Amino acid sequence: MKQKNVTHLLATDLDGTLVGEKELTSALFEYYGERTYEVELVYVTGRHHDSTMELIKAENLPMPSILISDVGTEMYDFDDPELHERWKKTLEEQWWPEEISRIAAQCSGLTPQSIPSTHRLSYFAEDAGAFEEVKQKLEENGVPHKLIFSSGRDVDILPPNAGKGEALSFLLREKGWEKANVLIAGDSGNDRDMITMGYPAVVVGNCQDELKKLPEHPLIFRAENHCAGGIREAWEHFFEKETVESNG
Ligand code: GLC
Ligand code: MG
Repeated sequence: MKQKNVTHLLATDLDGTLVGEKELTSALFEYYGERTYEVELVYVTGRHHDSTMELIKAENLPMPSILISDVGTEMYDFDDPELHERWKKTLEEQWWPEEISRIAAQCSGLTPQSIPSTHRLSYFAEDAGAFEEVKQKLEENGVPHKLIFSSGRDVDILPPNAGKGEALSFLLREKGWEKANVLIAGDSGNDRDMITMGYPAVVVGNCQDELKKLPEHPLIFRAENHCAGGIREAWEHFFEKETVESNG
């Protein structure tokens, strides 16, 4: 299949990042509409597919060309359904869900989330102690995995080669979009590995505590504005600097 030529791309989390303040979300898309170039949209969310589709509808968001859902364990290219199969195959190589759920069941402060996902196990943690407990138990056991703690509450256990960052790298490689002007946006723990991928990235002003601890880096922009307002602020910082400066 001939790949689309993409010059600019926004890979953004939804809840608390693109979505959260309606007026700022519509202002961002209006701003993109005024650019001389097209901005390819990739949504990268912790939600599962159906829940994401409901949010897109409820918030009246534009459909992205690609949706990465389930904390980077599912990938839907609306033009190429095969991409999903290729991605799942790479995850299958290192995924031991029975072993992991057996270990997690020994941790009293974890409640399983009821989600239809097949390549992640997600829980609600009673407190940070519950997270530390499962972390230690998984390490002791030596079962390969990736563990993510978000918003002081959500615990996701994924195949070690999954996650938002790994999924996005795979996508950019597969599509030949690695050289595009990419901005990555997020607000919580599950966004960390894509924010630190080495592309321009923004931590929005309303971020969760766990992202405040990220090291200082020229490619990690900390926005003052919240949600989509922070995305716009970072977009100008990385890609429209000259225009902004020459305007005054
Ligand atoms: C979203 C998902 C939830 C996940 C959390 C953190 O809230 O709905 O399943 O645990 O993101 O990744
Ligand atoms: Mg979020």
